[in-house]
Amino acid sequence: MKALLLSGGSGTRLRPITHTSAKQLVPVANKPVLFYGLEAIAEAGITDVGIIVGDTAAEIREAVGDGSAFGLAVTYIPQEAPLGLAHAVLIAREFLGDDDFVMYLGDNFIVGGIRDLVDAFRAERPQAQILLTRVPDPTAFGVAELDTQGRVMGLEEKPKHPKSELALVGVYLFTTAIHEAVRSIEPSWRGELEITHAIQWLIDAGRDVRSTTISGYWKDTGNVTDMLEVNRSVLETLDRRIDGTVDDDSEIIGRVRIESGAKVTGSRIVGPVAIGADTVIADSYIGPFTSIAGDCRIEDSEIEYSIVLRDSSVSGVRRVEASLIGRNVEVTPSPGRPAAHRFVLGDHSKVQISS
Ligand code: TTP
Repeated sequence: MKALLLSGGSGTRLRPITHTSAKQLVPVANKPVLFYGLEAIAEAGITDVGIIVGDTAAEIREAVGDGSAFGLAVTYIPQEAPLGLAHAVLIAREFLGDDDFVMYLGDNFIVGGIRDLVDAFRAERPQAQILLTRVPDPTAFGVAELDTQGRVMGLEEKPKHPKSELALVGVYLFTTAIHEAVRSIEPSWRGELEITHAIQWLIDAGRDVRSTTISGYWKDTGNVTDMLEVNRSVLETLDRRIDGTVDDDSEIIGRVRIESGAKVTGSRIVGPVAIGADTVIADSYIGPFTSIAGDCRIEDSEIEYSIVLRDSSVSGVRRVEASLIGRNVEVTPSPGRPAAHRFVLGDHSKVQISS
């Protein structure tokens, strides 16, 4: 069995972060979201992984390398443009050969891994197995309709009037039957080869398409709100470990991880919080559910429920909340008069001002 990990795409919902970097590499508790997927694949006993890459190929290659750090053998499969999930399967034909495979969306996050699912698929080998979860508003997802025995009757992409509350989770299991399906479908109105259409093709051809409804935690980290929420849930599982230095004027409460080389002075950190290597926290408050990556500087500031990427600084600002701050960003109060907001914002930035 092989794995196909999708790490291309355009990431429009996470702009401007995705103008300069891959969304799959945005850190959750200071570890790229893609690494959680790679770990889940390795844990399921799969070693051969094809990674679909797009414009951010160089960055993904640099982060993952040959996969040996995860106990995996990685083959990179360049996709000329984000032409859809079924297009990814189409171009991976040679890599996949005649093996069964799990397709895993690189920006998806599933607590509890995929080991049981992969084992069950190996034992029963339906032509396709999809994962579903109940969501309050299914209109933003692929939605499945099941018969009374739980067999998949039909799938719809982002329906206006969903036939169920069961949304497709970003993990799919396939036999070679999917190859004929992805060759047979036409691009959708948005110009993509949709995996939902390919699976619908299998259903219409009378193939065995089954579903598993998971109750565990799943999130697509494609937008900022979900990213912060995944970060919160992973930080909650963190063990307290302080490898950096903390002075006597600081207070560290609860589950806080401070990596080596980090320096905390005159600050109060209330966990769960992750502070990356060589980051400096001075005279500040860091509140629950915050991840600050390595080589950052937080000074005379307050920050809570946020993610800060590496090499950034926040100085003299209170208070930052529910924010995703990119790499090499500087946030400071504006100097002197007139009292005004001064911005240098990239395309598609979003700013909310409290005054
Ligand atoms: P999506 O989040 O559905 O698409 P996207 O990355 O284009 O993002 P947005 O909707 O914000 O513009 O993609 C799910 C995952 O699959 C994600 O990790 C990117 C990847 N992907 C590919 O590798 N190739 C593709 O053709 C598409 C559509 C997605």
